[in-house]
Amino acid sequence: MSREPLQDGHGRTIGDVRISVTDRCNFRCQYCMPAEGLPWLDRDDVLTFEEITRLVALLTQMGVGDVRLTGGEPLVRRDFPQLAAMLAALPGVEDLSVTTNGFLLERDAEALVAAGVDRFNVSIDSLQQDRFYELTRRDALPRVLAGLEALARFPAAHPIKINAVGIRGFTEQEVLPFARFAREHPYEVRFIEFMPLDADRAWEPGKVLTGAEIRAAIEEHFALEPEPREPSATARVYRFADGNGRIGFINPVSEPFCADCNRIRLTAEGRLRTCLFSLGETDLRAPLRAGASDDELERIIRDAVWRKELKHHVNEPGFIQPARSMSAIGG
Ligand code: 5AD
Ligand code: SF4
Repeated sequence: MSREPLQDGHGRTIGDVRISVTDRCNFRCQYCMPAEGLPWLDRDDVLTFEEITRLVALLTQMGVGDVRLTGGEPLVRRDFPQLAAMLAALPGVEDLSVTTNGFLLERDAEALVAAGVDRFNVSIDSLQQDRFYELTRRDALPRVLAGLEALARFPAAHPIKINAVGIRGFTEQEVLPFARFAREHPYEVRFIEFMPLDADRAWEPGKVLTGAEIRAAIEEHFALEPEPREPSATARVYRFADGNGRIGFINPVSEPFCADCNRIRLTAEGRLRTCLFSLGETDLRAPLRAGASDDELERIIRDAVWRKELKHHVNEPGFIQPARSMSAIGG
């Protein structure tokens, strides 16, 4: 690390950046995008691979070693594995991961593993074809499962995680099938509480199926034992007491984990966000394209990070949902 660690004004050290490589997506998940999609960014507005790599190289010099690539759907970006390879080649990148909806994994799994991606999260919200279609508005479950299997054939791709959003009135029926799935396959299933980041703005507190409720439903059938929580981890992980698999709960709404949050985010058009729920952001693209030096970019990044939000206010009166939806932020 050739520069000072990146710290915020609340004593947290930033070690993780999540980068949206495109705002486009081939799905229309109800909790994220409207059915008709969103107005996409123009190509010229999106950071190039070279620009992303330059920013990540600078961040790694400040100790940010965990890099997650998201979207939209990252695999719809042309030559995405090439970007993964460019980032994996940076000496300061310790852990390179990808969050994908899996639709294009049959095509890209091999290239992404070869590029040096260390870990994958595949989003699957239902294991039933009709309900998967209802939620994502795409009849794509068989193809996603085939993509997952294609990925699982590569030992270097493991551990593979599956993300399922917990929505009251929908996910209850999925809990046991997912628990069995996690027991029968080498995948860790993680339930994520539905957050107010949906473009349709249909979120309300009553629509969150909490991690505690899901865990209780699983424990009626299978005993679970907690694993120790890693610092800055988002998930509470449990193993099935009989040794068959693991399951995790990401509970940002019912049990916020802001206190040791070490994450920042970069949108596809190069804006730095210091919280999923930030109402403001810092443009890095303009200085980058105006020829700023690394030292100048460092100053802009440090200044923004210093003002990182103490916590989100989802559970408080007066909470304001950010204008961007998840697909435009990058999970
Ligand atoms: N609440 C919770 N999780 C969400 N995701 C997308 N939108 C939401 C939301 N409103 C998840 C996706 C994916 C990850 C990037 O974020 O399912 O797994
Ligand atoms: Fe696409 Fe992911 Fe949003 Fe679904 S949640 S519409 S897969 S970006």
